[in-house]
Amino acid sequence: KEITIIGVPMDLGQTRRGVDMGPSAIRYAGIVERLEDIQHEVQDFGDIHIGRPDGFQAQDPTHNLKNLKEVAEASEKLADAVSSVIAKERFPLVLGGDHSIAIGSLAGIAKHYSNLGVIWYDAHGDLNTAETSPSGNIHGMPLAASLGIGHESLTSIGGYMPKVKPENIVIIGARSLDEGERELIKEKGIKVYTMHEIDRVGMTAVMEETIAYLKDKTDGVHLSLDLDGLDPMDAPGVGTPVLGGISYRESHLAMEMLAESQMITSAEFVEVNPILDERNKTATVAVALMGSLFGEKLL
Ligand code: ARG
Ligand code: MN
Ligand code: MN
Ligand code: MN
Repeated sequence: KEITIIGVPMDLGQTRRGVDMGPSAIRYAGIVERLEDIQHEVQDFGDIHIGRPDGFQAQDPTHNLKNLKEVAEASEKLADAVSSVIAKERFPLVLGGDHSIAIGSLAGIAKHYSNLGVIWYDAHGDLNTAETSPSGNIHGMPLAASLGIGHESLTSIGGYMPKVKPENIVIIGARSLDEGERELIKEKGIKVYTMHEIDRVGMTAVMEETIAYLKDKTDGVHLSLDLDGLDPMDAPGVGTPVLGGISYRESHLAMEMLAESQMITSAEFVEVNPILDERNKTATVAVALMGSLFGEKLL
């Protein structure tokens, strides 16, 4: 493949400092070499510029959305960058940054497809709006925004909405959902494999079903992988860890099955926070999973 890496040093979608260092940590863990070793042609676009909020300006009291202006501006820039990569028929590989960046990634990707599928590999649903969010953190809202639900500044990135249809989404690894997110999942009929299903039928069946569910009805599939989907034992460097997650081994299997399916057309790896990490373990796990996603095999 011809892959273009885009770094997004965004940490304004949540409040724990350090996730802006994620792209560097993933580069230092050797992502370019790892992909070149398996015969991909890799270009590094560099990082999207993220504005700093004016420290003297209080949170806008009219809404519950932290750093809305800066997140929206960065999302537009990322959308343009991702879209230009796809226009050159290259594979966009986006490195976060917190998960709010998915708003921009999807805005740049979805306009190139008529039925984009999305695999949301995450402990969370990220289906909040300003009204349902317990935190006001935009990294808990990108999937809702991409469905066209939420504040206009987030749903209208790229000048169109929605980016994705509810029936084209699969959430894998969920174990922490807020009340409003549960209601939205039921109302829209979004397919979710919680940890219960992963434990019960195993990752093999979950991925077989996911691939079968998306294969025929989509013309491209974006993988949005939040490292907190993994168990904190395997991926400790994340801002919102939740016990009881997907293992390192199950995650490799999932990536290998996606590689075999040849259905993934764009990907992002988010929420790597080196300040909370142990010797860059989480970025190293991210790079290993990207290896599997892009076809690395032992034999
Ligand atoms: N549901 C919580 C919230 O809305 C946590 C979201 C965590 N999201 C993430 N991308 N890590 O604040
Ligand atoms: Mn910072
Ligand atoms: Mn998460
Ligand atoms: Mn997330």
